[in-house]
Amino acid sequence: MATEVLLEVRNMTRRFGGLTAVSKLSFDVHKGDIFGLIGPNGAGKSTTFNVVSGFMPPSEGTVRLAGEDISRVKPYKVCHKGLVRTFQHDSYLREMSVHDNILVATFSTIRSKAEREQRIRETAELLGLSNMLHEVVGSLPHGLQRMVSIAVAFATRPRLLCLDEPLTGLNQTEVGRVLEIFRRIRDEYKTTIMLVEHNMKAVMQICNRIVVLDHGEFLAAGAPQEIKSNPAVVSAYLGRRS
Ligand SMILES: Nc1ncnc2c1ncn2[C@@H]1O[C@H](COP(=O)(O)OP(=O)(O)OP(=O)(O)O)[C@@H](O)[C@H]1O
Ligand SMILES: [Mg+2]
Repeated sequence: MATEVLLEVRNMTRRFGGLTAVSKLSFDVHKGDIFGLIGPNGAGKSTTFNVVSGFMPPSEGTVRLAGEDISRVKPYKVCHKGLVRTFQHDSYLREMSVHDNILVATFSTIRSKAEREQRIRETAELLGLSNMLHEVVGSLPHGLQRMVSIAVAFATRPRLLCLDEPLTGLNQTEVGRVLEIFRRIRDEYKTTIMLVEHNMKAVMQICNRIVVLDHGEFLAAGAPQEIKSNPAVVSAYLGRRS
């Protein structure tokens, strides 16, 4: 099957003063991928998300979305072009209801009130939030708060949904449910997903392609089976976690 490149990162370097957080990183995310970006703490995963989503420019290198250079495009414009990300820590407004959080996300892309309400209902249904639309997000259990973050990001129906550690703090049942939601997002909405995640069991189960970073450097790329058996990856990362 021919695959089309959706996100192209080339020789991307990001420095913070004297610290090189990401060094000359190159990788492609293809349409239809559930793509995993993994590596030890401080490897540069969130920094990569910050750069591809326009929250910070690269020090060097380029990022292209569907062929268009977005290396120095502001986040709201990157969002309009179809790339949306969640943050490692909460991506919602705690004091507001689930409904209003999703509503805020739809303002910039949907003009009609009826269409916005329809989008909110559909998004809430997908994320299992239909029965709590009018609850204040801060009062919900942790697992549901994580679902709100994803709902807010997915409400704009991006082409590429970037999720920074969406499974943190979820129990096994919740993880299973979320992986099923990811599959629906890919299959029913044809949305490509890029995932940063430390839950290796889930990553190996859901991702078709994985890139491994270590200390800001590219370490390996491949299918889950190749990554699991790559000695460099095992010694840098997988071997450290049981
Ligand atoms: N805004 C910033 N200013 C200065 N240094 C930063 C900044 N953001 C990240 N760093 C540094 O860059 C390096 C990479 O951090 P990053 O957050 O990208 O790692 P990560 O792979 O997401 O780690 P984790 O798995 O712990 O979330 C770290 O050394 C971090 O301290
Ligand atoms: Mg991070």
